[in-house]
This record gives sequence, C-alpha cells and structure tokens, in this order.
Amino acid sequence: MRVFVTGGAGYIGSVGVEKLVDAGHEVIVLDNLRTGQAQSIEPGAKTVQGDLRDAGFLTDLLADIKPDAVMHFAGATIVPESVVRPDLYFGINLIGGYNVLEAARAAGVERFIVSSTAAVYGAPEEMPITEQTATRPLSPYGMSKLQFEQLLEAYETAYGIRWIAFRYFNVAGATYKHGEDHRPETHLIPNCLLAVAGRRPPLDLFGTDYPTPDGTAIRDYVHVDDLIDAHMLGLERIDSVSGPINLGTTAGASVAEVVAAAETVTGQEVPRVYRDRRAGDAPVLVADGARARALLGWEPSRSTLDQMIGSAWDWMQRNPNGYGDPTD
Ligand SMILES: NC(=O)c1ccc[n+]([C@@H]2O[C@H](COP(=O)([O-])OP(=O)(O)OC[C@H]3O[C@@H](n4cnc5c(N)ncnc54)[C@H](O)[C@@H]3O)[C@@H](O)[C@H]2O)c1
Repeated sequence: MRVFVTGGAGYIGSVGVEKLVDAGHEVIVLDNLRTGQAQSIEPGAKTVQGDLRDAGFLTDLLADIKPDAVMHFAGATIVPESVVRPDLYFGINLIGGYNVLEAARAAGVERFIVSSTAAVYGAPEEMPITEQTATRPLSPYGMSKLQFEQLLEAYETAYGIRWIAFRYFNVAGATYKHGEDHRPETHLIPNCLLAVAGRRPPLDLFGTDYPTPDGTAIRDYVHVDDLIDAHMLGLERIDSVSGPINLGTTAGASVAEVVAAAETVTGQEVPRVYRDRRAGDAPVLVADGARARALLGWEPSRSTLDQMIGSAWDWMQRNPNGYGDPTD
C-alpha cells in the first residue's frame, strides 16, 4: 500500500515507518520536526517537511500522493504543557488532525489510523480500563485526542471512512535502529536510564503512599515494537474493524518495579529523589486488551520490563547522544 505517515520523525512514528518500509509499503512521511528528529526517519521513506496546521498545503499534498491509508502519529504530547498551552494542543491535535482528515477525504482515502491515548479516560476507578469505560479527560491533551476520535466517528457515519484510534497506555523500549529521544524527556523509563548515564539530574519519584502494594503508582507499559505490530495488523484488517482500541498488557508495573528493573538491566543505581504525589495522578491505570486481541489477534510478545528497558538501554549505549550531534 501507499501509506501517508505523519510524525514519522518522532519516537513512535519512526518505528512505524521502519516496519512499514520493511513490510514493503511505499511510505511518505510528513513532519515539521517540532519534536522529531530528521535523522530518525527511515531512509526508505520519502519525506516532506511541513505542518499539520497548514490546511491548503495538506490538501495539495494528499491530492498529489493519493495514499491508500493514513497513519497519523504526529501530535503534541506533554500533558502539563497542554494545561498552559491549550492553543497549541487543540491547534495541533484537533485542528491539525482535522486538516489531515479533510485532506484525506478530499483525496478519496478510506483508511485512517491515529495515535490516541489512555488520557482520554482521565482517572477512572474501575480497573482494567475497557473501551467502554467512561471518557473523562483531565487535560487539554486528553480532550484534544478524544475530540479528534469523535470527529473520526462522524466521518465514518457520513463518508464511510474506516478508522482505528489506538489508545496507547505507556510506550517504551527501542528497536535496533530507533529509540526514544524526547527533549525534554518526560517518560519514566528513559528518565531512569538518563539518570544512570548522568545525562539528567536524579529521577523525581512522585508519590510513595498510593494504595498499591509498594506505595508507588502502577502504569501499563507496552514495547514500541509490539505497539507497531498492532498498527500493522490494524492496516491489514481495517476494512472490517473500526473504532477505538486500547493497547496495553493489563499487567502493569509500579514505579518502584520499573526503577528496580532499570537497576538490574544497567547494573547501576538509579539516582532518585522522593517527592510528594503529583496532583491528578491516578494510583493505577491499566488497559483491558481484550478488544485488540479479539479484533486484531494482537498479543504483545516483547513487553516485559526487562525487554523494554533492556532494548532502550542498548539503544542508548549505542547512541549516547540520542539523535543529537555526537559532540553534544
Ligand atoms: N509516547 C507515549 O508513551 C504515548 C502515549 C500515548 C499516546 N501517544 C501518542 O503517540 C503519538 C506519537 O508520540 P511520540 O511519543 O512518538 O511523540 P514525538 O513527539 O516523539 O513525535 C511526534 C511527532 O509529530 C511531529 N509533529 C508535531 N507537531 C507537528 C505539526 N504541527 N506538524 C507536523 N508534524 C508535527 C513531531 O515533530 C514529531 O516528529 C502522539 O500522537 C502521542 O500523543 C504517545
């Protein structure tokens, strides 16, 4: 297929492009390099630098490309930033998403896969979270992602566009080629490893008095390789599958377990500072993955903490400055 990929220079999109190219698809990447890195784009893909918020440019581009499918990874992704910059988050995630969808509709595209997030649920009390759990996002980030899903639903009803919104929980790990290099980094696993490598100050560990077995918060981590496998299955089956799909393992790991696993993998202590709970952080967020299993036959196979942290550490060792200048 000819697949139009947005955000292919980012952490997850770069792995998406890697797997699509490996599978023999023709891939055209759009990215404005706001948080992505040009070096992370797979050479086998054609790259266009441009912004989701430029509707006219997108319409012309998709009319020219005429893709068979869109994989929309691009977005603004940092929850606290969304609270102080809702303009940016609704502008990129909702209006930018609308621009891609409209350009796709005008070009006759009928298959649309988008990166959504567990943040659409907010902090529900019932675990694990199914796709039927009430959506009550707590941040402009979560709201912008949910509103874009609602737009897709309306486009399916009106225009028959097939869509899958993969609601990612916590994504981690690396392939041999592509790893996580957000600047600033806000995710727990890379921050443990960056603290070990002395590339950031000690890790802030928020909250040790949650109602969980060890007192730290529990989250659901998925290896980026497993996550992209779900997208490949989604692409194959989208003609008979539509709607939101959770991507998580249900297992969940506590912050203390992640830190301990990072110490085992690296053989070094993770320097850390214990802090109070952060406002709005739920004690436990884990996915019910039954829908992904039933509709796509998706089974995560590389998502143990050792596999995720081991692959991320391996990538970091081989790329000590991430995608940055080796002299950084
Ligand atoms: N990383 C996670 O754990 C996680 C969890 C839940 C959901 N998600 C979602 O997955 C997607 C990818 O996340 P990621 O971690 O790879 O983020 P990332 O920041 O590494 O990648 C996002 C990419 O989008 C590009 N981009 C941003 N704004 C753009 C614009 N206006 N025009 C064109 N390109 C633009 C960036 O340059 C970057 O390459 C996002 O939509 C995010 O909301 C990620």
